[in-house]
Amino acid sequence: MEHLIAPSMLSADFLRLGEDIEMINNSDADWFHLDVMDGVFVPNISFGLPVIKAISSLAVKPLDVHLMIVEPEKYITAFRDAGADILSIHYEASVHLHRSLQAIRQAGMKAGVVLNPHSPVALLSDILEFADLVLIMSVNPGFGGQEFIANTFRKVKELKQMIYEQGLNVQIEVDGGINRYNAADLVEAGADVLVAGNAVFKAHDPMEEIRVLKSLL
Ligand code: DX5
Ligand code: ZN
Repeated sequence: MEHLIAPSMLSADFLRLGEDIEMINNSDADWFHLDVMDGVFVPNISFGLPVIKAISSLAVKPLDVHLMIVEPEKYITAFRDAGADILSIHYEASVHLHRSLQAIRQAGMKAGVVLNPHSPVALLSDILEFADLVLIMSVNPGFGGQEFIANTFRKVKELKQMIYEQGLNVQIEVDGGINRYNAADLVEAGADVLVAGNAVFKAHDPMEEIRVLKSLL
């Protein structure tokens, strides 16, 4: 399968958010990646429901919402109503992950599970069949522009193997420190979706950078 590119709007220019959304609309990108942080689960606060609703009104591509919040189960329908198409919650923030993933699907969204860098892929063996997507963090969540953690390659390969052994169709997304130099190796390891924040928005030509990440030339 052709891999997908999901630019993270955390690195966009919030004074020109409309222009950056239009740039993504017109680019080779596949999804909008939206990072929601509560200052509790992660040591940073980003944006929430009203901003996602505004992005949704202009975006013509799916909204991939990454919740870095405690008690994510409380806000599932709220994010659906704000326009989320894919809703991913952290393994580490979910006491009743099975119930929450089912609630996300019942609300009409794709359900994603996110693993922090310290969480082994093996934790997912009994929940994988209830997820549409697994997001492997390749940095500690909370900030854009951090350095990629190299053991991610092994985790992606392990997860690909687990998905294959269970006969499932679960997408593997990787998030954090991705750029034109490690993207091809991640796809080779088994990644289906690559998130990129700084690599896209700090580039001289963001649309061209997305094209590079998509085509991996
Ligand atoms: C980190 C976020 C990432 C981040 C990626 O907590 O989940 O989506 O914005 O940004 P880069 O690509 O700059 O590491
Ligand atoms: Zn993210």
